[in-house]
Amino acid sequence: MIKQGNKAQKSYGLKTKIQKLRRTSIATVLLIGSAMVTTNASAADADPSIKELKKVLQGQIELMKPELEEKVKGLSVDTKMSLMSILAMHNRYSKQATMRQVMTEVLSDYQSVMAGIMTDNPEHTADSARRLANHRIPVGGLLPYLGLENISDERLAVLDSFNTSVEGNALKLAAAAEKGDMATAASLLGPISSGCVACHGVFRTKPGVSDLLR
Ligand code: HEC
Repeated sequence: MIKQGNKAQKSYGLKTKIQKLRRTSIATVLLIGSAMVTTNASAADADPSIKELKKVLQGQIELMKPELEEKVKGLSVDTKMSLMSILAMHNRYSKQATMRQVMTEVLSDYQSVMAGIMTDNPEHTADSARRLANHRIPVGGLLPYLGLENISDERLAVLDSFNTSVEGNALKLAAAAEKGDMATAASLLGPISSGCVACHGVFRTKPGVSDLLR
């Protein structure tokens, strides 16, 4: 896991201790990644996973057009921490896949979880659920696909709860399946899909609408 200093940890009133630990380190990473702050560099150097994340972030920001880059840099530290804590739950970064491609893959994984449950196969279920939880991050990260109008502290504040619904419950589902508790695994499909639907409600328009229809 990622290490971080105690000082920054105190200054954020976040929900759980784990979230605090995670987000604080992520904020440090983000700030270093944006070359805005040089403190805590030694902590970053000490942990290869932080170094890795820093590289990923720098790469994402470099890919953004100036209008997006500007908006991202203007986000509050809290929002940045929240975004980075979401990214930290993933270690598969695509250099080419779009968000739509990733989403299609996520849907496949969701359906695969369902198949595992329906065939009473804990290994199939758990593997697919973990794959879903650690879905690929599209090229440039999530932000380029959410629309410029959504790149604000207010709009992005909801992302973390959607992430918990989807990724958090997928990991719980995997654990339940591994214990052979397929009833609990099945009961978590609903909360996962609620997370998908809630995020789509905020950040997505209807897929595939044609502008050639009256
Ligand atoms: C972080 C918010 C978020 C979450 C959580 C989320 N999605 Fe999406 N999803 C999006 C956005 C944004 C798009 C539109 C992307 C675009 O068009 O570039 C999308 C698009 C899609 C699409 C349409 C792809 C297409 O071809 O247009 C599918 C299918 C989909 N998501 C499935 C899922 C499933 C299944 C889950 C839950 C397991 C899920 N999504 C969770 C944000 C989310």
